[in-house]
Amino acid sequence: MKYRKKNFLIENVFAKKLATKHATPLYCYSYKKIKQNVLNFKENFKNINPLICFSVKSNPNKILLNEIKRLGLGADVVSLGELMLALKSGIKADKIVFSGVGKTVKEIDFAIKKKILLINAESKSEILNIEKIAKTKNKIVNIGIRLNPNTDANTLSQISTGKKENKFGVSEKIFLDLVKYTKKSKNLKLKCLSVHIGSQILNHKPYEKMIRVLNRLIKKTNFHFEYIDLGGGMGIDYKNNQKILNLKKYSKIIEKFLKNKNSKIIFEPGRSIIANSGVLISKIIYIKEGYKKDFIILDAAMNDLMRPALYGAEHRIIPVKKNNNKSKKDYEFVGPVCESTDKFSTIRNFQKLKENDLIVICDVGAYGMSLSSNYNLRPKAKEILIKNSKTLVINKRQTLKSLI
Ligand code: LLP
Repeated sequence: MKYRKKNFLIENVFAKKLATKHATPLYCYSYKKIKQNVLNFKENFKNINPLICFSVKSNPNKILLNEIKRLGLGADVVSLGELMLALKSGIKADKIVFSGVGKTVKEIDFAIKKKILLINAESKSEILNIEKIAKTKNKIVNIGIRLNPNTDANTLSQISTGKKENKFGVSEKIFLDLVKYTKKSKNLKLKCLSVHIGSQILNHKPYEKMIRVLNRLIKKTNFHFEYIDLGGGMGIDYKNNQKILNLKKYSKIIEKFLKNKNSKIIFEPGRSIIANSGVLISKIIYIKEGYKKDFIILDAAMNDLMRPALYGAEHRIIPVKKNNNKSKKDYEFVGPVCESTDKFSTIRNFQKLKENDLIVICDVGAYGMSLSSNYNLRPKAKEILIKNSKTLVINKRQTLKSLI
């Protein structure tokens, strides 16, 4: 993604052309970028040869999932819907792990039927439930237990999952009890210790702390875990100048941890695989002079991209066509939804814009479309994929007819 003669391109296709043909708001992904991210991830962790399970919640598009599968990844799912989609996308059951604190009987039943790699249980009640279902089916089910390591991920509080106040995983004490319990079970086969401390992690230190907790705990259990599932959470550079997680450093920490262990590492990355492969192209409906600032009212809104409203997350906004205009303006980019939080960003010294101009909201490939809604009865945006300079429609624009 770059500018050519001041025009924004996605894999050699002009964003303006795409907007004219497909209308806006428009989610647009670059295959090249996804591939680059996967290769980069694999390269950095090549010494530990992990099983990489793409976190479907970050982007549940069937065609993108199929591309990700072709690049060799499995899937991390958290609902029956995601599990069915992963299978439909061609991902093999033996590369699928299932997390989540509230798996229902129906979900567990389906996961057992499909023989997925692991159900990562998050409570004693869930383990008893899996055991009960497995018993009635006369099956032995492979499970993991998710530990809450009480480790601060140093990220936004809303996307932290590994501290003791969070609902995820079990405490060390319960973990030890459950290891003992599963050892005696005829229908459960404990294979994995899983953990996921949060998302958008930008430094290796929280991971280092988490690994220390795992080391200590594994010694206490005196149990051989065939798999250690370290979750995802690897952060990306949303600001275009941020220091991000050094994957090599993280890999080194894991290599050390794995000495004398003979366990296979599983990762569940979402954002680091898909976030920077996607942009949201939007058109300016109106420019409105406020008391103190000018509002750029876009045709994309918080229902299309919820992260800024939900977490105060910042996404870069850039023009589709750079102009030569020397005069700059301060703008607040907002959507048409009737909420004051329907605001993307306030940007100083932006090039002067006019109504009908197009802009690009960057790095929306993860938790963009997947968090979108029909709030204000707005249809969901269209999604396209650029692959080898060809444009594929990978999700049609929702029609009002289907909503009304
Ligand atoms: N594994 C588990 C168990 C998870 O809960 C998550 C994300 C992942 C893997 C993938 O994490 P990633 O590599 O993408 O950071 N909506 C928020 C992010 C929520 C993440 C939830 N869990 C956002 O827009 O930032």
